[in-house]
Amino acid sequence: MDSIVVVGGKKLSGKISTSGSKNAALPILFSSLLADGVHRFDNVPALRDIDSTELLLTALNCDIERDGHSMQVAVKPPIKPEASYDLVRKMRASILCLGPLLARYGEARVSLPGGCAIGSRPIDLHIDTMRRLGAEIDTEEGYVVARAGRLKGDRILFEKLTVGGTENALMAASLAKGTTVIENAAKEPEVVDLARYLKTMGAKIDGEGSSVITIDGVDELVPGRHRIVADRIEAGTLLIAGAITGGDVVVENCEPEHLRSLIEHLIACGFDVTNDETSISIAACDSWKATDISTAPYPGFPTDLQAQYMALMTQAEGTSVITEGIFENRFMHVQELVRLGADISPMSQVAVVRGDRGGLSGAPVMATDLRASASLILAGLVAKGETRVNRIYHLDRGYEHLEDKLKSLGADVLRVS
Ligand code: UD1
Repeated sequence: MDSIVVVGGKKLSGKISTSGSKNAALPILFSSLLADGVHRFDNVPALRDIDSTELLLTALNCDIERDGHSMQVAVKPPIKPEASYDLVRKMRASILCLGPLLARYGEARVSLPGGCAIGSRPIDLHIDTMRRLGAEIDTEEGYVVARAGRLKGDRILFEKLTVGGTENALMAASLAKGTTVIENAAKEPEVVDLARYLKTMGAKIDGEGSSVITIDGVDELVPGRHRIVADRIEAGTLLIAGAITGGDVVVENCEPEHLRSLIEHLIACGFDVTNDETSISIAACDSWKATDISTAPYPGFPTDLQAQYMALMTQAEGTSVITEGIFENRFMHVQELVRLGADISPMSQVAVVRGDRGGLSGAPVMATDLRASASLILAGLVAKGETRVNRIYHLDRGYEHLEDKLKSLGADVLRVS
């Protein structure tokens, strides 16, 4: 199994490009199931979760061709509407095939998902949504088994805001009969990117990016071509990598507007952060002050950057309070950061971080989930000596060769088998 070895102490500098968004690509690839024919996607990141999606779509009987960051999904019936445990257990987002399969084929058998171990992550809201649209759903032997005639549009009020639930609802409602109104919808840029592709296919959607989305179901969708939006979480991680080393870094080909909350927090810490339409620059900075964050749905501070921001706070002047507002158990990186010498006290969903610039020293650590892996690598960039981050397969689920990107900015980082 691969590990990443980081030797701390190098200031990063230079320009680095952002890859396409994993979290946008996954639902968009699954949305292909809504229309027969050849769908073409550009800026698809080369990641393990995309490989898992490719395997799942292939098992459903789609033909996939990949060439660098371009991907073609050919959907030609008969589709086998089943996502097996073997395929689903590695990627929770596989539940996103439920809506399209049900809407297009009237049936779906999807294994209950696995994925990141960040607290209990139920799928009740996905199931309630499909029921609301007219599906009958049972759970049998670890599978969600769903059946429906043509789905019927309805009002869907999410009591808890859910990104994946909103995406499944959007996809299913696009082919339902009549109008669906999603209230308390997720506003994340990935939801908006999905809506854009659905509209390219002929869906009638209004209000994406706001908390009320209206979908007028159509009888048929047709395949199209789409460029996946830039990955705001990767861009944010690279920005924090520049920040934590006190370096001068420009993150290019991203959407700065999607990172407004992170940018504002970095400015509050004392960093000089500027942006134009497609890039964000952070200037060298010798010390920064501790600043609290509370993760929240978009446009709030993203939970997917909480672990990386915590690494930055271990180097700040003063004490910060980090509140995790989305997931109940997303502090598993804390114990590993503490092994590097960080002073962090976690209590339920709040962690108090006492900053100490230069206070970390390298050690072997274990990546516990995707974003935790990135946080440990960032900490390694400033720890004295060598940090070996083990179980790096989590990182490969969601970052495209992060070590190469950091190396190109001057980091001393190496992947070892
Ligand atoms: C997506 C992102 C993930 C990000 C998360 C929150 C993808 C592939 N993943 O995950 O990186 O961290 O949004 O921004 O896009 N919940 C329920 N019942 C459900 C569904 C969710 O209780 O049926 C809860 C979850 O446990 C969590 C909260 O709702 O506490 C938000 O989860 P959700 O927005 O659905 O996250 P994902 O779509 O899984």
